[in-house]
Amino acid sequence: MEVIEVLLEASKRVYNNVRHLAGTKESGEDFGRGAGGDISRRIDIVAEKTVLDYLKEIKFDCIVLGEECGQVELSKNPKGFIIMDAIDGSTNAVRGLPFFCCSLAFATDNKLSAVTDGVVTDLSRRDMYYATKGKGAFLNGEKISVNKDKKPIYFVLGLDISGISPDTLEVLSPIIASSNHIRHFGANALEFGMLARGLIDVFIDLRDKIRVTDIAAGLLIALEAGGYIVDRSGKPLDSDLGYHNKLSFIAAANKESLDDIMNKLNHS
Ligand code: IPD
Ligand code: CA
Repeated sequence: MEVIEVLLEASKRVYNNVRHLAGTKESGEDFGRGAGGDISRRIDIVAEKTVLDYLKEIKFDCIVLGEECGQVELSKNPKGFIIMDAIDGSTNAVRGLPFFCCSLAFATDNKLSAVTDGVVTDLSRRDMYYATKGKGAFLNGEKISVNKDKKPIYFVLGLDISGISPDTLEVLSPIIASSNHIRHFGANALEFGMLARGLIDVFIDLRDKIRVTDIAAGLLIALEAGGYIVDRSGKPLDSDLGYHNKLSFIAAANKESLDDIMNKLNHS
């Protein structure tokens, strides 16, 4: 079984196990603080357990790095890491806002640039975004691409500003002032999917809050769809897979948009 098939099957099982839970009071039951530092909700725990049970069932030799469960060694002879945010957009999932997903990635080494496979599943719509390194990005079996139009009529900027510091907000102010269509949906992994299929043109998160578990799969999908994703200094985004790492990034559909954003940031 190919790794991508393992991730797709695990994601389908998550969809089946959480779809009746989303938006219910029960979904938000508090299970204490998870390894990533946030409160784990029942829906997060159910989703993680689904993935872990499946990986155990098929005896997939790996180390799991999960947002709630932390590091779980499923084998003494692992072939790589499964990077799991079983529910990204937990607040939306608990409130019933239809924008949350399951993000699963596989890496052969302890770094984001070693991710070879990623699946992001929109758990409201059952849309599956996925990619294998070097093979392009797909949505429900159809190849997808970022928006290649350098000057779209409606330029849509995704911007995550939840809990942003006043200083970082100041840095972003030239970009905010010059953008007429700003969006913030609340599930970073799925927002990468939106970029990958050409629905948003740029996606920025400079809060130093995003964990590798949130973006490992979305990053590969957006790159395979033709996107550019860099860190604050303009280098291709990378990091080791420690789930305590907090990252910032600028993702853009094309080089022109990326250069424009970097210029504005560097002159603010
Ligand atoms: C959150 C989402 C959200 C972002 C938060 C993340 P979670 O993930 O990706 O868009 O603003 O910083 O923590 O906690 O729902 O898995
Ligand atoms: Ca999460």
